[in-house]
Amino acid sequence: MSIDVKRVRNDFPELEILVHGKPLIYLDNAASTLKCLPVINAVNNHYSHEAANIHRGVHYLSESGTIKYEETRSRIQNFINARHAHEVLFTKGTTESLNLVAQSYVSDFLTKGDEILVSTMEHHSNIVPWQIAAQRVGATVREIPINDQGEILLEEYEKMLSEKTKIVSICHISNSLGTINPIKEMIDMAHKIGSIFVVDAAQSISHEPIDVQLLDCDFLAFSSHKMFGPTGIGVLYGKEELLNKMPPYQGGGDMIDVVSFDGTTYNELPHKFEAGTPHIAGGIALKYAIDYIESLKLESIYAHEKMLLDYATEEILKIDGIKIIGTAKKKASVLAFSMAGAHPHDIGTLLDRQGVAVRTGHHCTQPLMKRMGVPATTRASFSVYNTFEDVDVFIQALLKAKELL
Ligand code: ALA
Repeated sequence: MSIDVKRVRNDFPELEILVHGKPLIYLDNAASTLKCLPVINAVNNHYSHEAANIHRGVHYLSESGTIKYEETRSRIQNFINARHAHEVLFTKGTTESLNLVAQSYVSDFLTKGDEILVSTMEHHSNIVPWQIAAQRVGATVREIPINDQGEILLEEYEKMLSEKTKIVSICHISNSLGTINPIKEMIDMAHKIGSIFVVDAAQSISHEPIDVQLLDCDFLAFSSHKMFGPTGIGVLYGKEELLNKMPPYQGGGDMIDVVSFDGTTYNELPHKFEAGTPHIAGGIALKYAIDYIESLKLESIYAHEKMLLDYATEEILKIDGIKIIGTAKKKASVLAFSMAGAHPHDIGTLLDRQGVAVRTGHHCTQPLMKRMGVPATTRASFSVYNTFEDVDVFIQALLKAKELL
């Protein structure tokens, strides 16, 4: 089924705004997607008619809020095919999800000399939390190298795996390159030597179907705001047996069973990992984002974005001095490039003047930029509401920017 883009665009009110007097061409979807009407309406409705704390009250608003919030958890369970709803933990987003595993799992299960493997293309949020946690226990974070196209070198990965490897943490899709990593193969390789595997699914969750049981990943992290949902809420999926063994990440309300100065006991999953009042409106609205994605079908979203990526790649390569950064055989929705003689920041500013929103900089992947031999790139990233006309405007704007630089 192909996407009815015209209809889809009507679901995203932000597409109607003018930027510097020009229609918005939003090509910064890898940073955050726009929000669809059902999500906006759910947030509005929550604060207008439903706001109260959840999990705590016996009154109507608290109970109905709890039901709705927990409905999202079940919806996510179903969306990623988790065995249990309590394997779905709510966090602030991918970054907090990865920090949760790093803090909680590493502190209890890793020791001096153990190794954590991440790849060169990881986002800082999939490097730094491991470095912080590893330092505390004397473990080491090692880098799995990539080739010039931006693909993980699987033979090198295989050589690095050993009895010292306790955690492998890899992005499903690279935010800076668009590379789709062979996650299933990598998970199976890690499991053979007894390591757990963490998937950073921040960039893949709204582009590729994910089945955590099929993947057999131990943890998987993603953010709502990259899937048309609210900011400030995300998910950590974890296998029940691991989550049960791990110590709490933060202390506070909701995560306890009995508190006493003689010793405190903790609540069961998922609440053990959810201290404090959560982002209730965000949690409730996230369900509508998932419903929206499923109504369009992930396969169709992927096909639509791939069409745009292929077209944009073809068109941009007609411009002299363009070098695409990230040319993996399997790529999704990200077109990052450098242009001879022009700084990405200047390109981004000149595109913005023409209504085109892209991201410029190191994209929170400094080791990757170093590996690719560039200080920064300009990145256009596509979503379901983008059109061929958007790509045409982007290319024309780029040509104009090139003239000026
Ligand atoms: N990780 C986000 C990006 O790639 C913010 O832009």
